[in-house]
Amino acid sequence: MAMDTGLIFHPYMRPGRTARQTFEWGVQSSIACDKAGFDSMMISEHASQIWENIPNPELIIAAAALQTKTIKFAPMAHILPHHNPTKLAMMVGWLSQILEGRYFMGIGAGAYPLASYMHGIRGEDQNTEHLNEMVRESLSIMEKIWKREPFFFEGKYWDAGFPEEEVALTEEDEQHKLANYAPWGGSFPEFAVTGFSANSPSMRLAGEKNFKPVSIFSGEEALKRHWDIYSEANIKAGFTPDRQRHAVSQTVFVGDTDAEAKKEVMEGPIGYCFNKYLIPIWRRFGMMDGFAKDAGIDPLKADLEFLVDRVFVVGSPDTVVDKINTLFDKVGGWGTLQIEAHDYYDDPSPWFHSLELAAKEVAPRISMPGAKPAAKQMEAQAA
Ligand SMILES: Cc1cc2nc3c(=O)[nH]c(=O)nc-3n(C[C@H](O)[C@H](O)[C@H](O)COP(=O)(O)O)c2cc1C
Repeated sequence: MAMDTGLIFHPYMRPGRTARQTFEWGVQSSIACDKAGFDSMMISEHASQIWENIPNPELIIAAAALQTKTIKFAPMAHILPHHNPTKLAMMVGWLSQILEGRYFMGIGAGAYPLASYMHGIRGEDQNTEHLNEMVRESLSIMEKIWKREPFFFEGKYWDAGFPEEEVALTEEDEQHKLANYAPWGGSFPEFAVTGFSANSPSMRLAGEKNFKPVSIFSGEEALKRHWDIYSEANIKAGFTPDRQRHAVSQTVFVGDTDAEAKKEVMEGPIGYCFNKYLIPIWRRFGMMDGFAKDAGIDPLKADLEFLVDRVFVVGSPDTVVDKINTLFDKVGGWGTLQIEAHDYYDDPSPWFHSLELAAKEVAPRISMPGAKPAAKQMEAQAA
């Protein structure tokens, strides 16, 4: 089975971009990905970061809904500890109806302390175990709201209920029934969960609930660990883990040649973002240690060029296919090549060209370790 392609839009806009520019870039990117044949676009939610300046991913999704045809959208992620669960459940249900099913729900516990603080969560309460406890309570309330059956729940963090609805006996009663904000199709929508830390409680939750696991590539060991945590919980809950459902976010740039791709990443918006914003963050979150360990170098020596050569997936289509297949052999593979978006607002052409190559020249040639090469499978089917 060939790999899916997804875009994750954090969106890494350089400081100074206006809300209008970020919004426009989001919608333009969704249209370009839809045309290139991408399967999904995920959009982040951040209250605090100037480089990640989208507090409401649902607004971009709604604006893109009428201008795209097949691509699916997800917030990645709605940070559940920051939302009233009933309000969020209704908004999500309504949006998935607007998209007529081209929607799946992404949830996360929250990464940034300042964003948690703004939502009244501070000090010790910001640890990932506690945030994940809030995620679980929020999730259970949303499930109940979508079922549309009477309940009242007094939780540790939120109270919520669904009222008993009187049977409509007259035509007038019919006009006063409860609006239906259950997700498209009436059932629980597909869920995806972001996982980040080494002992990821989020990956455990995803496994238990059979949700789609979504990781950021943070080194071979961390990624193997994520899969182990997810699959152990998944099996324990009676499911069969499927690597095809695992999405992994990576920095990917595909050019016509290796040299062109490397130059573009080093000198263009991606390099700028890493030097100014992401390398310091990755050092703070310990991600550089994982990459340095994989390569056997001192973490302090891990700079942009090291990342471009050894960590990112950068090059011509052939090189990118080789790099991903090599990584798959070491780590086990995953189903979605989830490309991290960057700020090509001023000149989208190299970026859109890269996305097109990724969808058309790279993803169809990637196969899970042990499977027949995807391109060969296609050739065999065609013969
Ligand atoms: C692919 C991906 C996307 C994420 N998007 C967001 C986001 O939009 N906003 C945010 O505050 N945190 C985001 N996070 C971080 C999560 O909210 C959270 O900190 C992390 O998944 C917790 O993982 P853990 O349970 O493994 O510790 C993201 C994480 C990943 C892996």
